[in-house]
Amino acid sequence: MTVGPDDTIANALIRAGVDVEFKCEEGVCGTRITGILEGEADHRDKFLTLEEQAENCEMAICCSRAKGKRIVLDI
Ligand code: FES
Repeated sequence: MTVGPDDTIANALIRAGVDVEFKCEEGVCGTRITGILEGEADHRDKFLTLEEQAENCEMAICCSRAKGKRIVLDI
């Protein structure tokens, strides 16, 4: 699945038919914190601590993005 520069992972999943629940869409509530299996996240949320973001194990798919061209998530 490709996520455009002005898109979010969550919206791309919904368009692909995946049932994704999210609430604030601003990285505050933590509703859709998702595990990272491969790749590095560009964290843009305010929910995870800086330490959790540095661990690169989870990300908020409503607002955070991949740092590289590819990221594999535990959806
Ligand atoms: S929907 Fe609230 S943090 Fe993503």
